[in-house]
This record gives sequence, C-alpha cells and structure tokens, in this order.
Amino acid sequence: MEDVIGDEHGISASQFEDLADRTSPLISQLNTERKAGKTPYRDLPYKNEIAEHVRKLVAEVKNGCEILVVLGIGGSALGNIALQTALNPYMYNLDETQRKGPQLFIFDNVDPSQFASFLHLVGDKLDKTIFNVISKSGRTAETASQFMIVRQMLLEKLGPDGFCNQVIATTDAKGGTLRSIASDANLRTLEVPDGVGGRFSVLSAVGLFSAAMCGIDIDSLLAGARDMDERVSFEDFRKNPAAINAAINYHFYNHGKRNSVIMPYSYALKDMADWYRQLWAESLGKRLDLNKRDVWIGPTPIKALGTTDQHSQVQLYREGPNDKLFTFLQAKYFESDLTIGPAPDCAPELEFLAGKNLSVLLNNEKQATEFALLQDKRPCLTVLFDEVDARTVGQFIYFFEVTTSFAGALFNIDTYNQPAVELGKDATFALMGKSGNYKKDYTYEQFAKDIRAKTNVDESYLV
Ligand code: PA5
Repeated sequence: MEDVIGDEHGISASQFEDLADRTSPLISQLNTERKAGKTPYRDLPYKNEIAEHVRKLVAEVKNGCEILVVLGIGGSALGNIALQTALNPYMYNLDETQRKGPQLFIFDNVDPSQFASFLHLVGDKLDKTIFNVISKSGRTAETASQFMIVRQMLLEKLGPDGFCNQVIATTDAKGGTLRSIASDANLRTLEVPDGVGGRFSVLSAVGLFSAAMCGIDIDSLLAGARDMDERVSFEDFRKNPAAINAAINYHFYNHGKRNSVIMPYSYALKDMADWYRQLWAESLGKRLDLNKRDVWIGPTPIKALGTTDQHSQVQLYREGPNDKLFTFLQAKYFESDLTIGPAPDCAPELEFLAGKNLSVLLNNEKQATEFALLQDKRPCLTVLFDEVDARTVGQFIYFFEVTTSFAGALFNIDTYNQPAVELGKDATFALMGKSGNYKKDYTYEQFAKDIRAKTNVDESYLV
C-alpha cells in the first residue's frame, strides 16, 4: 500500500475504493455466469461421480502397479505435477517407505534422450506399469507421439491384451482422436469434462487419478476447493479474496507492473508456480478484448523459488526496473521440521543459527526479502497457508482459478480461449509432413515451404 512504498508505486486508500467499486459488479456477474453453466470448472469440486469413477479405477489397477506414467502436456500435465510435488514427500519416488502408491513419472515433453532413458528403465516392468495418457483432443503432437511409442512397445512386448490392460486414456467424453483409439482398443477411460479447458481441469479426473493413485487425499482436496468456492462467491468485495487479488493485480498491471512474480517459500509449492504460469499466461494474454478491439494485454507470469532465487534474481528484482508485482506463497507450519545443529567452536559467527528451526529460517528469509523489496518500493503480497496439505492446496487451486476469472473480467477479455497457441501447433503439423489442405487452396506442403523460407537457419549469419 501507499503508506509502505509511497504514492508513486503503492495503492492509496482511495484507489482501493475505486478498485472495490469497479470489481464488485463483476462478482455477481461471475456468479450469474457460473449458475448459467458458462464456467463449468467452478462445479468440479461438487461432481461426486468424477471422484467415484476415479476411486473405482484406482481400486481396480493400484494393486500390482509399481510405476504410474502420465503422458500429457500443458493443462494435461502441469496440475498433476503440482499436486505431486505439493502433497507427496520429496523422496517419494526413491524411498518406498515414504510412498503410498506407485512411483510416478510425468512426461510433458518430447525430448528423445529423456524419454529413451525412461523407457530403458521401464522396458522390463511394463506389466507392472500403468500409462495414463491424457489428451482432450488426442491430436496434440507431443502426447500423441509419446503414446504411439508406448503403444508400439506394449504391443510388441505384451500383445494387444497387455496394451489394453496397461493404458488408461483420459479424454473427451464423446469425440476426438483419443476417444476413438480408446474405443477401438477397448481401453479403460476417464473423462475431461465438457467445457473445461486444460488449465482449469486439475480438479477433474485429469488431476485426480494420478493423485489418488499416489495416495493423495482427493476428498480433502475437493473439500478445500468447496470451502474456497464459498469465499470467492461472496458478493461483498472485502470478504472475497479472489476478487481482491484480481483487483490488486489489475491495478498494478495498469500502473506499470507488467510482470507478476510468484515466489513460493515452500518447496512443496514450487510446481504450483508452473501451474499458475500457464493459468495466468494462457488466460490473460490476449490480443482482443470482448469488443474485438486490439488490446494486446496480459501480465507476464514469472516463477521464482525462495530462498533459492534470492541468490539469483533478487539483485534484478530490487535494482532492475520497478515493473513487477511479487506474490509470495508462505506456509506457517511445515509437516516436518529440523533443528540446526550447534556451531563448530572455530566458527562462533554461526552461533546465531544454532538451535533454530529450518522453518523459522525459511520464513524469516521470506520476511527479509519482502522487506528488501519494499525498501526499493516494490509491491508485494502474500498468500499464507496454515500448512501445505490436501485441503489448503484445494483451496489455493480454486482461489487462483477464480482470481484468473476475475482478472479476465477486469481486463474485459475472453479468459477461456487460447487462439494464439494454434499457429505453432499447425506449423508443427506442416513441418512434420501432414498431408492435405491447411486452409482453402493452401496445402500443408506449401505452408511448410513458407515456414522454412522464414525460419531455416540463414548460413550467411552463422558466426
Ligand atoms: O490449457 C489448455 O487447454 C492446453 O494447455 C491443453 O491442455 C494442452 O494444449 C493439451 O491439449 P490436449 O489435452 O488436447 O492434448
């Protein structure tokens, strides 16, 4: 606020009043849209049938599953990764005494060295491995390619029955490429709910299956989301955390803070920053507003991790351009804590650390960094978790999803589309030799030629 970082960079009381006036009508607007079924992600925490289906499938396949592999990308992977890092121990995959389910590997890329190394590990354990391929469309080049490699391997080593037993497809309920592959091969399936974009789908079967397989309490996760739903539906702006968070982000964006740094001070929340980056970037980065006017809008989300990035980014954050809003994620309590041992006699200068808990050091470092940023008039806000557990993570996910909806409404854009990601996908299809027409009177082959003319390395510039 202005009283801490001054009137050039901070929010004044009257500006906050203006934000409240501007945002308040959007609360009832969003509530009405939700009741009209326009934002189906809002209802996911109440869909008992989804959780039931997930639980049933987990009961069917968990025994005998030593390795679970998720194949997916973007909204079909980031939520799964974030839940695993947040809610299972750091050494989950390596230490079976810390594990309540199979080892989990999530592939959201097509790096051949990475995937080959993994397939080398899994090659002779295929009958103990479940592959959960997640793709709403089934035509995403990355996921489809991973899947086709795995399919070939399973068919060769275990035959058609093995392929059918070891693969679970999460996809559109009715249509799409993966749905027809699944029907054809009689695969077990889960659904990507209708009208829910990938980045809003973590609380559906997309995120719940791998979580439940790995012992995460999905009931508490969904209960947390329902708790938060109540709060982010309050029509009183001052009681609605998502409306306030969106309004603050909107204000700072319009006052030159075009970058939004999210900085968890909890390793468990590290990958929530990746999940948030996609949610924020795909939802809010838009050329057109709802009146079809060019606005080229959108805060750039940046991820950082405390304390690690204090020793990497904070120099820039303090003395570089004052164009960032900082959102810290902080936990009051940690599931485990450690006491720092005594200082060696020869190093009395370390005495001040001896006997203190690591959690105390971590949270004091957060406070110290925030202070340092405030000294240079950098705006900061904090999302405070009592503890990182399934309930609070469910709250957080829902809180940020609805914050995104409010921010989109404030920017007057379509929060739920992502038209700009299509061109790169189509260009990949062309470069990979897709046949037929890309557009009327324009083949993929011609398209590939045009792409190459602009992007092939021009040797005359090679140094
Ligand atoms: O948020 C989104 O909609 C995207 O990130 C998609 O999840 C991603 O492109 C993967 O698409 P699909 O599930 O069709 O494979």
